[in-house]
Amino acid sequence: MKGRRPRPLDDGDSGRARVSGQFRRAKPLKNRRDFYLPSSATITPMSIVSQYTATMVKTAAESLLEGNLVAFPTETVYGLGADATNQRAVRRIYTVKGRPLDHPVIVHISSIESMNKWAQDIPNYAATLARTFWPGPMTLILPRTNLAKNFITGGQENVGIRIPSHPLALELLSAFESKGGIGIAAPSANRFGAVSPTTAHAVEIELNSHLSAKDKILDGGACQIGVESTIINCTQSKPAILRPGAITLEMIESYLNISIEVSASITPVDQIKASGLHESHYAPKAKVILIGSPSPGDGFIALDKFFTPEKVFRLAAPKSNEEYAQILYQAFRLADKLGLDRVFVKPPSGKGIAVAINDRLAKAASHS
Ligand code: TXA
Ligand code: MG
Repeated sequence: MKGRRPRPLDDGDSGRARVSGQFRRAKPLKNRRDFYLPSSATITPMSIVSQYTATMVKTAAESLLEGNLVAFPTETVYGLGADATNQRAVRRIYTVKGRPLDHPVIVHISSIESMNKWAQDIPNYAATLARTFWPGPMTLILPRTNLAKNFITGGQENVGIRIPSHPLALELLSAFESKGGIGIAAPSANRFGAVSPTTAHAVEIELNSHLSAKDKILDGGACQIGVESTIINCTQSKPAILRPGAITLEMIESYLNISIEVSASITPVDQIKASGLHESHYAPKAKVILIGSPSPGDGFIALDKFFTPEKVFRLAAPKSNEEYAQILYQAFRLADKLGLDRVFVKPPSGKGIAVAINDRLAKAASHS
């Protein structure tokens, strides 16, 4: 699961929707040039850094250590990062997101060796999962050490840890750790309950008015996976999936050679509190409808093989379930940009990543 090479914003952000087979251009919110910096650019206050150099990544790492926030790409979605040992900085994440304080945040690290700093009593199966799927789209919930304070865990005795695979995320983590940092706390870089951003531009739209002058957004292109990491509860004798993602049930079972549980997606298991497990989440402003057919003026998301009804805005036509996951949140954002009231979605069928897509669709629809 290697992250895509960083590249400029792609078509998912071009604001184009296809209406009955034709492209219709939505009014861009900002001039695209605003999202780019010339190659000679240095990091400016609250900038989106698109053409970064090793020096810029180091500067971003230093900024984190000074207590500022840095939004950065991962292979799943963009995260809003803060030094995980700095209470004031982590509190700012909650303020910027508008998130309740008792919801835990995931700590991102760059290597398996750092796992013991944050977690203890690590079961063998969790170590196997870490060795197999990290760096990658998987978060392990483990018993915490003293380093994982209540302001990270929401007062719970467990901590969520992940090594992302996006090259820019790994570069940032390495630079941060080489300067004395131990982990970067990062929830998805959206306002509480909203759709996770999968481009730097989407982060800007979500959070710009809440970020301060010293915060930064690192642009690493569109996220390759597009839905959040698989969360696995590793605090019991057997693992259980709390949030499905690109590391699928089948993958986990085949590596561990056991059958495992998927918790009912809306019911936290064993009092584990996870905001992404709430019923209403991942929702655009438009009403998301999973049953029935769109009428003229509605949005429509479905696999490419399904045709677009007359006068309906085709927001996405992915060719595979993987592509479906990658562009789903961009399609939701496009619906809001176009000011649509309703989006009809034909959910994908099958196992694998389709389970994660259906989980997010169910939550988006229950919000509407
Ligand atoms: O792909 C991802 O996981 C992204 C990228 C940025 O890494 N992060 C992300 O974070 O989706 P967030 O906070 O938006 O969603 C993580 C979920 C939340 O529902 C949170 O409550 C849960 O993980 N979580 C974090 N730490 C936890 C813990 N100690 N126990 C139970 N749930 C936890
Ligand atoms: Mg989130």
